[in-house]
Amino acid sequence: MFERIHKGNVYFNLVNGEWVECLSKKSLEIFSPVDNSLVGKTQLLSREEIDDIIMNSKQAQKAWRDTPLSQRAKILERAADILEENIELLSKILETEIAKDTDSAVSEVKRTADFIRFTANEGMHVQSEAIGAEQFPGFKKNKISYVARIPLGIVLAISPFNYPINLTASKVAPALIAGNSVILKPPTQGAISALYLAEVFHQAGLPAGILNTVTGRGSEIGDYLITHKEINFINFTGSTVVGRHIAQIAGMVPMLMELGGKDAAIVLEDADLSMTAKNIVAGAYSYSGQRCTAVKRILVMNAIADQLVELIEEEIKLLKVGNPAKGIQITPLISTQAADFVEELIKESVEKGAKIVIGNRREGNLLYPTLIDYVTTDMRLAWEEPFGPVLPILRVNDIEEAIDIANRSEYGLQSSVFTKNIDLAFMIANRLEVGTVQINNKTERGPDHFPFLGVKSSGMGTQGIRYSVEAMSRPKAIVINLNS
Ligand code: NAP
Ligand code: G3H
Repeated sequence: MFERIHKGNVYFNLVNGEWVECLSKKSLEIFSPVDNSLVGKTQLLSREEIDDIIMNSKQAQKAWRDTPLSQRAKILERAADILEENIELLSKILETEIAKDTDSAVSEVKRTADFIRFTANEGMHVQSEAIGAEQFPGFKKNKISYVARIPLGIVLAISPFNYPINLTASKVAPALIAGNSVILKPPTQGAISALYLAEVFHQAGLPAGILNTVTGRGSEIGDYLITHKEINFINFTGSTVVGRHIAQIAGMVPMLMELGGKDAAIVLEDADLSMTAKNIVAGAYSYSGQRCTAVKRILVMNAIADQLVELIEEEIKLLKVGNPAKGIQITPLISTQAADFVEELIKESVEKGAKIVIGNRREGNLLYPTLIDYVTTDMRLAWEEPFGPVLPILRVNDIEEAIDIANRSEYGLQSSVFTKNIDLAFMIANRLEVGTVQINNKTERGPDHFPFLGVKSSGMGTQGIRYSVEAMSRPKAIVINLNS
């Protein structure tokens, strides 16, 4: 059922309801991080083609914004069903294209279907309201503001490699239910997975032109898309470096940005250490640490540090390393450059006196899960986001020191606090400069209707199903003035 999206190994773009080949026939080769085999080729579109696609999106949106909400919701529900029917196929593509381990790949597709279905339902409840004037001093009952929510126009959705299906759908579905059309620029590595998702929406009955795709390197076409005068909203997930660049050039276009993180887990003396170690290992190493919300540093009280390190090491020994397959958790990193970067951070910390507890072994782009103790604040690993399976332990003397180090980060996505003392947990949570604090759990985004946001260099605006629908729509007020 996905035959239309490619010819041989060349993947086309969805434009005005058709899968079209670009005029130049130029393409990019996508190789698998698993075995370096060719997964397929994606097209390099010219600026003229991008202009035509954007004009098509603009034209198509006029009918979509007037399509009854219930009809839009039905299309989304159908898309969720089609996605679920194709879990096996799509998770295999994720395994090949981005080396996602089997369990995480299956979970990404299933979660995306749930996300789209929830969005269809939630969108039905983002309603218009009427506000009377008399509550405001000096006003009588002679004015009523009818406040409708209307779409913004064209949403430019730019997604990252690590969740090419889920973090594409988490932009596309709320944008669509709100009545926008969407231009999707998928990540280069992950584009094929995202193009399958686009076809899912198409097969669900999305009218032509409401979801168009544009492939090509972000470094080559990104700026052109971002600064295009017809783009009304930018919904971006990716690195802080690229996010900051986009924010600088975009002018007055509103945007939602989910960027990098350096999530800390603060472990207090009274924590249940066995539960904490399990959470930390799941949080730090799933999909080989290539998650914005991965636990990326441990701030542990000195008195319990030895015990915690031992328990974490035991949990790490249970992780299975290899190519994506059932039961494997640690798979090759997305690129050689990514693996080199992680290795560089490990090396620098060891040179400065940190101690490897376990790991620090590499086979190609496959890095074994690595735990490093005695990391100190003069080491890059204390501050930089490795996006790989390495976890630094920073031993601290007290809670104040833990809060200070946690907050000195340029990032502010999430933090965890592990303790049995709920009062203390709340006190710490209130002082942490992050979007979300997890008490007695690993850092993580879901469930996907929760607000999800980063502060400082971790982002701007709030994701989460209702929040995303609201971000990609605006109030339109019509005031009725009565003469009585
Ligand atoms: P990335 O290199 O920043 O790329 C993200 C997206 O931006 C890709 O589609 C990329 O296209 C595109 N892009 C690159 N340059 C661009 C430009 N000048 N204009 C417009 N788009 C451009 O990030 P990544 O390596 O895919 O993902 C890893 C990073 O994302 C990590 O830092 C991680 O923490 C962050 N992340 C954050 C969240 C969150 O919710 N906070 C979630 C997931 C990931 P190409 O692929 O073609 O270069
Ligand atoms: O990589 C960033 C994702 O938004 C994290 O989502 O916590 O469900 O893995 P997750």
